[in-house]
Amino acid sequence: ENQVFKYYAEGEWKKSASGKTVSIVNPTTRKTQYNVQACTQEEVNKVMEAAKAAQRQWARTPLWKRAELLHKAAEILKENKDPIAECLVKEIAKPAKDAVTEIIYVGAVDFKVVRSGDLLSYTAEEGVRILGEGKLLLSDSFPGNERNKYCLSSKIPLGIVLAIPPFNYPVNLAVSKIGPALIAGNSLVLKPPTQGSVAALHMVHCFHLAGFPKGLISCITGKGSEIGDFMTMHPGVNCIRYCAAGHYSFTGGDTGIAISKKAGMIPLQMELGGKDACIVLEDADLDLVATNIVQGGYSYSGQRCTAVKVVLIMESVADEFVEKVNAKMAKLSVGTPEENCDITPVISESSANFIEGLVMDAKEKGATFCQEYKREGNLIWPLLLDHVRANMRIAWEEPFGPVLPVIRIRSVKEAIHHCNASNFGLQGSVFTKDINKAITIGDAIESGTIQINSAPARGPDHFPFQGLKDSGIGSQGIVNSINMMTKIKSLVINLP
Ligand code: G3P
Repeated sequence: ENQVFKYYAEGEWKKSASGKTVSIVNPTTRKTQYNVQACTQEEVNKVMEAAKAAQRQWARTPLWKRAELLHKAAEILKENKDPIAECLVKEIAKPAKDAVTEIIYVGAVDFKVVRSGDLLSYTAEEGVRILGEGKLLLSDSFPGNERNKYCLSSKIPLGIVLAIPPFNYPVNLAVSKIGPALIAGNSLVLKPPTQGSVAALHMVHCFHLAGFPKGLISCITGKGSEIGDFMTMHPGVNCIRYCAAGHYSFTGGDTGIAISKKAGMIPLQMELGGKDACIVLEDADLDLVATNIVQGGYSYSGQRCTAVKVVLIMESVADEFVEKVNAKMAKLSVGTPEENCDITPVISESSANFIEGLVMDAKEKGATFCQEYKREGNLIWPLLLDHVRANMRIAWEEPFGPVLPVIRIRSVKEAIHHCNASNFGLQGSVFTKDINKAITIGDAIESGTIQINSAPARGPDHFPFQGLKDSGIGSQGIVNSINMMTKIKSLVINLP
């Protein structure tokens, strides 16, 4: 407890020359749990130099060997799930069962597989196929040309990938960047979120144990406000993969747009939050809807980019729906992550204050509270807000907490209009038994993914995952990630 952890660079664990550390506050106790190194800009420079040197060698390492190492790291990660999960419980108050889920995916149908470890193995398998294939083009298919040019194109790495995962998935959303980067022949510099750093360092240790070359992976800890811009604007970086969580950001104020402006001419992939709407039609199976709303809206206390963030329900079935959801919500346990409660403290006091601000605004403007609003420290009891209207902040803003607004609608058109008026466009759901309606509505909503008869979710991790509008740029998912971290190089053979 209250240990000081070193950062990882050039294959070694190091103390920062700054002599300073950053404390990680446990959201439950609100006391310092761990400390990590406050790395300096000079240390960032050294990491980038080592990453470049290692990457040159790595790009020449046979693909099958890269894959072999990733499989090894996956195994070690699976073996070490318990200490990593323990950090997640302490650093980000993830309930113990969900903390293991981040490494082990125990979903609604109880997948007994190790999520992050399997993500790595799957990445290695896809990588050998995607990267093991090139293309041959013949010149005479283009008008005016003879068959005297043969173009051989293949995928090459970008160089150094900078990965910045969010606090809510510091392991899984790091691994989802590390795996594709490495299989494609890149090196990877990880800047974990402050809360989540220690879990990330433990995860990086698994890569260290797997025996990756020195400098190929590094993990720099410190304050985003001090080294954030320096890293995103670093000339050594060839690709940035960034995820925000709620209203938090890496540098303490930057939006995705600000990062993209600073980053320069390099590929970017960003996941920047959402206001995922669930549209419920009259013919929907309301028991199925209620189960999905409670799971989708309140798991990890609503701190998921893909959490259900607004319900748009037809007025005629709204009362029955609210009754069913309330009955399920009454069964949610509220307390500490150690006790495996469903609802645990949100990440920080400022987050709890932000959530409370949204709730109070809705109260003043006449929303109906289905439960009593209750808060103790960072712990907020789950709340369903009925009769929410468009003039309330919670109709549009992302709480990143266990509070969910319900807007009663009179037509499908109204629902689509609400979704498309949002700045966000990550995911959305439609609940109906009429597949034609589901497809038509799904088509009309401006979101990266629409789920039919299920709450939004990123996984399985090989599915494409992307946001439109302010929800992001680029696409995740294993295949998309591998492709995104490569570029095409051609060799043209010219015959006389
Ligand atoms: O908030 C992170 C986002 O990627 C959600 O992932 O698996 O909870 O849908 P998941």
